[in-house]
Amino acid sequence: MGDNRRVSEDRWAPLADRSVGGHCGSLRGRVRTYVIDQHLRWHLPDPPAAVVDVGGGAGHQALPLARDGYHVTIVDPSPAMLARAGELVAREPEDVRDRVSLVQAAGQDAPEALGGRRFAGVLCHGVLMYLEEPAPFVAALAELADDEGVVSIAAKNQRCLAVSPALAGRWVEALAAFDADRQVNGLDVDTRADAVDGLSQLLSDNVVEPVAWYGVRLFTDGWTTDLRPLDNEEDVLAVELEASRRDPYRQLSRLFHLIGIRHRAEP
Ligand SMILES: C[S@@+](CC[C@H](N)C(=O)[O-])C[C@H]1O[C@@H](n2cnc3c(N)ncnc32)[C@H](O)[C@@H]1O
Repeated sequence: MGDNRRVSEDRWAPLADRSVGGHCGSLRGRVRTYVIDQHLRWHLPDPPAAVVDVGGGAGHQALPLARDGYHVTIVDPSPAMLARAGELVAREPEDVRDRVSLVQAAGQDAPEALGGRRFAGVLCHGVLMYLEEPAPFVAALAELADDEGVVSIAAKNQRCLAVSPALAGRWVEALAAFDADRQVNGLDVDTRADAVDGLSQLLSDNVVEPVAWYGVRLFTDGWTTDLRPLDNEEDVLAVELEASRRDPYRQLSRLFHLIGIRHRAEP
């Protein structure tokens, strides 16, 4: 689904509505956005720092940053996803709109498409699972980061792929998932998963030091839209955030959120 080279057709167009709806239209989507946002805020420098969101899609993760004063560049190869982002940005006040730029490019091409510009924050959430080959992509993310810039990646957690099918009662699939690194996701796309140590090594290979990792979405991962929490949504978010930060919970979360800091160049 993702494209490690250039994108000649918009393969995200048929998925755009479901992907965008999944963010705000479901508790599990809101948990993902919230947990990643909380960790990001902890690591990013204060606004008005410049951040780039690679594979930023409709901008759900990036727009709140722009509202808070960050200068945000959303890079995505999909015209359909960028059109969604454009619609959301158009609803914002003028000062927020002025802080957001949309650029059509694949992540691997982003350093060139952005003219060599470097950023205090490089975000890439929910994209690596759609790419067959993560190494060149991670190298491009590192290239976009300024000295001491933050690189923030959310990826599918390969170490616990059996959890989701097992909790859904698909036992044959669960058994096979223990040694797998692929799984069909909620958008019916065959996705690839990463492990924290493997992705950390890829960052290190590209002069980005891994400094922290978190889980993203544990208890609500299997929640369907017909389920309603007995307590307030803010209580759900608080529980998921707590689980994201401590073992063993974070290890069993569906996604992981890895933070790295790019080394300062030698003078
Ligand atoms: C599940 S959406 C995630 C959107 C956003 N990062 C978020 O967390 O809300 C995946 C996005 O990856 C984008 N994508 C797919 N292949 C890509 C590539 N090679 N480079 C950059 N983005 C890509 C898709 O167009 C889509 O917008």
